[in-house]
Amino acid sequence: MRAVIIGAGVAGLATAWRLLQAGDSVTILERAQPGHGATWAAAGMLAVTAELEDAVEAERQLALEADGLWPGFAAELEAAADAKIGYCRDGTLMLAADAAELEALRPRGRLLDAAAVAVRVPLLAPVAGALWVPGEAHVDSRALGAALTVAVLKAGGTILPNEAVVTIDRREDRAVAVRTGFGRYEADSFLLAAGAWSGLLENIPVTPAKGEMIALATPPGFQAPVIWGGGIYMVPMKDRLLVGATVQDAGFDTTLTRAARDHLRGRAAALIPAVRDWPLLEQWAGLRPKSPDGLPLLGPSHLSNLFVASGQYRNGILFAPAIAAMMARLMRGEGAIIPDFDPRRFIGSVA
Ligand code: GLY
Repeated sequence: MRAVIIGAGVAGLATAWRLLQAGDSVTILERAQPGHGATWAAAGMLAVTAELEDAVEAERQLALEADGLWPGFAAELEAAADAKIGYCRDGTLMLAADAAELEALRPRGRLLDAAAVAVRVPLLAPVAGALWVPGEAHVDSRALGAALTVAVLKAGGTILPNEAVVTIDRREDRAVAVRTGFGRYEADSFLLAAGAWSGLLENIPVTPAKGEMIALATPPGFQAPVIWGGGIYMVPMKDRLLVGATVQDAGFDTTLTRAARDHLRGRAAALIPAVRDWPLLEQWAGLRPKSPDGLPLLGPSHLSNLFVASGQYRNGILFAPAIAAMMARLMRGEGAIIPDFDPRRFIGSVA
């Protein structure tokens, strides 16, 4: 089978890799650089606990399936790309500022009291306690994008950067080719995995949700799990602490704002006072792909051979191994569509 994938983010790259492993021919068309959109901006948390409290059952199942695939996926990818992706299972602490917050966390798992939290992260300001999720993991999303790019290329895939798809040629109910400013690419099966940009190409109601983040330099020896509290999260990554993230409806604007920087740094300092003295290394913004019902779009479109993998919103990194397996199967005419994620649920709802 010849496949064309629109978008070289984590979903498009990982699906391409699986298709190539199955013997298919794959070309990825990327509007900018591979792995440099939402993948690059992500904190890389595989946050099954923190992000999916209110998830519907289908999304919870997708998250659990993906989380289960992650250890094998990470090991296989690191071997294929001969590169590390920082997969790390140091756990997650969800802080409770007071007794009421701690009680609210109780049904979700194992609680730590204030003293046990202080032992785990001595630099933390006093808290009432925390939910402790020992097995939760995170990954270096920038290294992940780079490793997937290498794995795709080594497996024989073609990645064409700076080639934004502008139109899809169709015949009856099928896509026959996509066009960029540089060429026309025919295929048997197509995947639209263009993140927040997916809605610009087809009638797909995916919109951008801007997230700004900062990274602070950590002192030598600083160690901590992922920490959630005070409306932010903090992710230790090598010699830096990632602090995120805002959620804004700002269209495709990725301007970095002083307000976001001060907000994130202020919230981080309220949790770890020493953070005030840690140098700011970087500030950046990314665009999460969001659907109207908050659920991903995974499956066929109104064209029978044009598939969609988008709308992952806050969980694109977590979902990636499961999405890759699912989309590769669907594009090869195998596997089942999950009704909650069927992109066709929105047909007729978009002007
Ligand atoms: N999953 C973290 C974020 O979207 O900010």
